[in-house]
Amino acid sequence: MSAAARPMPETGSPPVPLHVGIIMDGNGRWAAARGLPRALGHKAGAEAARRTIEAAAEAGISWLTLFAFSSENWQRPADEVRDLTMLMRHYLATEVSRLSREGVRLRIIGERERFGEDTVRAIASAEAATAQGTRLNLNVALSYGGRAEIVSAAREIARRAATGELDPATLDERSFGRFLGTAGMPDPDLIIRTSGEQRISNFLLWQAAYAEFVFQDTLWPDYGAPHLAAAIAEFARRERRYGQRVA
Ligand code: FPP
Repeated sequence: MSAAARPMPETGSPPVPLHVGIIMDGNGRWAAARGLPRALGHKAGAEAARRTIEAAAEAGISWLTLFAFSSENWQRPADEVRDLTMLMRHYLATEVSRLSREGVRLRIIGERERFGEDTVRAIASAEAATAQGTRLNLNVALSYGGRAEIVSAAREIARRAATGELDPATLDERSFGRFLGTAGMPDPDLIIRTSGEQRISNFLLWQAAYAEFVFQDTLWPDYGAPHLAAAIAEFARRERRYGQRVA
């Protein structure tokens, strides 16, 4: 589904992106610069996530996708994977009531099964507890990789084709998108990456086809409302053509 940023002609305000994706990068460098263990960088990163979620809702953004744990992150040292997993579990346990109170609907995209049964249960219960939220749709990408997501969609399509449930000739971009973790969600208009790195790192590969990219030097634990506002302002200055020529 292709998303248009929402123009606000009645206020004369610049357009706010409908869906923002964020590659939260720089927790390790933030910690190293302070002589702290990486785990404390991730903890400060979780606080930045909390601030940014609130700022996104305040800014009128409807969809926010945070890249919290990539498929590749499983290859980090075991103690860092354990710290990150525990942080996610703690976040799910402590943040759900606040998210629900603030009208935030939480969904997890990615291969959640890889985290084990307890985490899968905690995720399901957090999603159910926030399911009524309408102010902000928050996706947290966990054990997520864009290529794995596309392969999983292709596998399911092939399975259905083999059983005769699906006619491959009818498949198009729209129907393919229904097999992704983001089925039914608008594509991101704006993807932000922090910490000065300029890579997509397997994030929302299919969905980012027409996204604008904004790269910011701030390390993720320092991120918050002013940084998000700056990225939105930069987005508003871009001319979006979706591959077409503007007369
Ligand atoms: C990148 O920093 C960040 C991560 C791999 C983890 C992201 C997790 C959080 C921000 C905290 C949890 C968020 C939620 C929503 C609970 P890095 O470790 O790659 O940093 P570096 O590039 O400086 O080493």
